[in-house]
Amino acid sequence: MNPTIEQKIKGTNQKYLGNLLGKELPAKLNQQLENMDWTYLDLIHENAQQRGSFAPLGAMELSEIEERREEFKQIGLDAVKSTKVGAILLAGGQGTRLGFDKAKGMFNIGVNKELYIFEQLIANLKKVTEEAGAWVPLYIMTSEKNDVQTRVFFAEHAFFGYDPAYVKFFVQEMVPAVDYEGNVLMEAEDSLAMSPNGNGGWFKSMLKAGLDQDLKEKGVEWLNVFAVDNVLQQIADPVFVGATIQSGCVSGAKVVRKVEPYERVGALCLEDGKPSIVEYYELTPEMAEATDNKGTLLYGFGVILNYLFRLDKLMEIVNTSLPLHIVEKKVPYLNENGEFIRPTEPNAYKFETLILDMIYMMDDCLSFEVDRSKEFAPVKNATGVDSVESARELLTQNGIEI
Ligand code: UTP
Repeated sequence: MNPTIEQKIKGTNQKYLGNLLGKELPAKLNQQLENMDWTYLDLIHENAQQRGSFAPLGAMELSEIEERREEFKQIGLDAVKSTKVGAILLAGGQGTRLGFDKAKGMFNIGVNKELYIFEQLIANLKKVTEEAGAWVPLYIMTSEKNDVQTRVFFAEHAFFGYDPAYVKFFVQEMVPAVDYEGNVLMEAEDSLAMSPNGNGGWFKSMLKAGLDQDLKEKGVEWLNVFAVDNVLQQIADPVFVGATIQSGCVSGAKVVRKVEPYERVGALCLEDGKPSIVEYYELTPEMAEATDNKGTLLYGFGVILNYLFRLDKLMEIVNTSLPLHIVEKKVPYLNENGEFIRPTEPNAYKFETLILDMIYMMDDCLSFEVDRSKEFAPVKNATGVDSVESARELLTQNGIEI
């Protein structure tokens, strides 16, 4: 016999469980509670992560990259040809800001024709595989919420011309969402509202899925990790790969020059001498506006979630825990009366680890500038900044038919 909910959830955190009190727990809910890590809930009362002391980190800028393009490209193409580069598509997010209820990659960004986000990303990657004459192993991280639909979508569209033998899916873990007082939220009478645990757990989840074997068989040495929503980004970009290998660094990050000192992007810098990303809200005005003698902002290069990691280094740090971030999100739930509520404003905390914190675990990181008008078109919102509208405009400007 399953225990009652009172035996599972002590003290507070029970506000939405009224209908279940005194009853035997449904099996699914019982399972979720068995696996639940309650220490998460204590975190909402704790202070933010303690940061060290920040210092600027110079970037390899466009002019230098242009001069050495051919040299870098050759090194990168050789690595791609010998399957030393794998690509990781982070597609487990919920895309709540876009307000699209399927996997974000299934969104049709086209106007006069169908053009799905996944399709455009594959087209970007195929530019490299065609030039190299070799497939890049592609690993797609999904979440429990969108795994099946993502796999079906790829299959229905014949992988947009990619070789399915080089595509593997894996699923990230879920964590519970709570309201602002720490009460667990229910998404149905037999299940808690769970949400994906952020994009920081991607490598752990990959190993959990046994994909280290695949990496080994294929001889992969570098992983290029990228977000689902930047439709202009270059994936397994030989110039970036070559420059990072050449630099001797264990990691690399594509960055764009900020449009203004307070732009809401994380800046790549040093923290206690290690590479790190300082969030825009962590910058003091002095830091945000500081410039060098050429007038270049010292914290002026923002990350675009396109990183390169050396596999042996990832293996070394995989068991080091990442800081947990508490994020406010809109989470649908059953209220005290058992009614299903789809909030229009953020109502809950979700717990996430973030890939940007992995940079701090690297010994060094090549900051590699890209031209934002050519490589940065994120689809975060339906309209306005970083939106479907702005991404469509940027795609068109880059000669891509939509
Ligand atoms: P975002 O930070 O934009 O989050 O993700 P999101 O969940 O997609 O969107 P919002 O904030 O709810 O609107 C950046 C990248 O990390 C992936 C996303 O799919 C995107 O590629 N991601 C995010 C995951 O893979 N898993 C997560 O748990 C969160």
